[in-house]
Amino acid sequence: MAQKLAFRPPRAIQCRIPHRSQGRPTFLFALQGGSSLVRSLFASLTLLAVAVTVTAAQRVQMSVDVAKAGAKIDRNIFGQFAEHLGHGVYEGIWVGSDSRIPNTRGIRNDVVAALKALKVPDVRWPGGCFADEYHWRKGMGPQRTVTLNPNWGGVIEPNTFGTHEFMDFLDQIGAEAYLSVNVGSGTPQEAAEWLEYLTTARPTTLAKERAANGHPAPYQIAFLGIGNESWDCGGNMTPDYYLSQLKIYSRFVRNFNPAQQDKQQMLKIAVGPGGSDARWTEWTDAIMKAYQNHTWSWDMNGLSMHSYTVVKWPPSYASVGFGETEYAQILKSTLEMNDLVEKHSAIMDKYDPKKKVALVVDEWGGWYAPLPGSTPGFLVQQNSLRDAVLAALNLNIFARHADRVRMANIAQMINVLQAMILTDKEKMVLTPTYYVYKMYVPFQDATFVPVTFEAGTYTHDGITLPRVDVIAAKDKAGQLWLAITNVDPNQPAEIEVSLAGTNANLAAGETLTASTVDSVNTFDAPNTVVPKPVSAKAQDGKLTLKLAPKSVTVIAVEQ
Ligand code: AHR
Repeated sequence: MAQKLAFRPPRAIQCRIPHRSQGRPTFLFALQGGSSLVRSLFASLTLLAVAVTVTAAQRVQMSVDVAKAGAKIDRNIFGQFAEHLGHGVYEGIWVGSDSRIPNTRGIRNDVVAALKALKVPDVRWPGGCFADEYHWRKGMGPQRTVTLNPNWGGVIEPNTFGTHEFMDFLDQIGAEAYLSVNVGSGTPQEAAEWLEYLTTARPTTLAKERAANGHPAPYQIAFLGIGNESWDCGGNMTPDYYLSQLKIYSRFVRNFNPAQQDKQQMLKIAVGPGGSDARWTEWTDAIMKAYQNHTWSWDMNGLSMHSYTVVKWPPSYASVGFGETEYAQILKSTLEMNDLVEKHSAIMDKYDPKKKVALVVDEWGGWYAPLPGSTPGFLVQQNSLRDAVLAALNLNIFARHADRVRMANIAQMINVLQAMILTDKEKMVLTPTYYVYKMYVPFQDATFVPVTFEAGTYTHDGITLPRVDVIAAKDKAGQLWLAITNVDPNQPAEIEVSLAGTNANLAAGETLTASTVDSVNTFDAPNTVVPKPVSAKAQDGKLTLKLAPKSVTVIAVEQ
């Protein structure tokens, strides 16, 4: 779950961070006469004036190489994760058809409408650690088996939200299924029958049961996760033991849907690393080595990686009421994702130079201390402007590695960890992270365009971070988009973007910021952190814009 890495500024972002002395104001002045108090007051004011003038004038130069096309930014890097954990599913998605909360077949309408706007590509379900204790039959038919959820508070699991409800939810929000099958406490037969139940078009007993349960047509299952964290909560397996399971599940857990045989085949995702230590690099090495030598009878298309921004374990950083030091510490920690991706990608390159296997970051996000008064096992936390910046920085890292990172699932969708949405009975509020996902929709399946830039630095309490971050991409219609984050919580960033080879005349989009780094949206004040329109003129192939401190901005460049 947790991991700790040494900070290095991201390398692959084609930006240069100046040495500590570069770009800093130098002061040269002489004071004569007057009292020492006046002298020092004058000196302070002068310092302040010079500092403000020079800082404001510090322009960040960016050059977008519009003619160059990088990899496709797979829309699945904007995937979500919904586990049976706390109020993630029950109350967050499922309220039951007899609830007074407006719903469609038990699934809340407000949540569906909000998620539709994000164009959620896929949802990973039912876990997480929960997946390795989940038995699909208990969530089938009119009589559900009531069980326990030992991982997450030991609460009652009513199984009222089962496979059909999950598939209905996906249908309502327009997303694809990423099913995590139970390797830890289940059997290959159980998983194979689940997939037959879901996907066969032939009149088998399981298909008839599916029809009797309301769905005669076979379902499509886009992604299959074979276990979850099998090195830990998923069964404490060694790489070799897990490999033996992977080969069996990959062989027998088949997708029979006729529409998924040649095209749109179900992609199988193996359990991968959970950090950067030798334990994790050895795991990646073992799985990828086996993949290189795999025979016709088993296959994998993705290697999962989990990495939370947590700093220290157990999670102790507050999600509300924190200051600039905690802002800087958390962002420093989150930027370690870059090294982690590169470390495991390098191992994958050794065995899979053609990058057939995707690195799937299917659990990531900020993991903080539980909100005071909440049930600790429910992983309830608020979501602040800091999380919006954190989300943008991570999405940018994934986009820069789009040739290998083709899928990612933020943890988790509703009411758990770094959520898109918080609910309380009939109330719902959209988080700053939600708005980042909404602003980034144009990047789904867009083509990465390289940007060269001087990131500059932001330093606080001994922590130095890149001051700005940016990605660019062209969508299918050829529209150029920029996403720029100003990490510095105190200084605006004046950006000059060179767009040579274009007739750019205007850029327009949205910017997300708020008064403090810990600003949050609440049920009573839901619009504290919401995007505002922003636009800038371009002249002679140059675009100049001023970004607010601690902000995420997404703009379309009009030509
Ligand atoms: O997202 C919460 C938990 O974190 C997941 O269940 C597990 O896979 C991970 O350790």
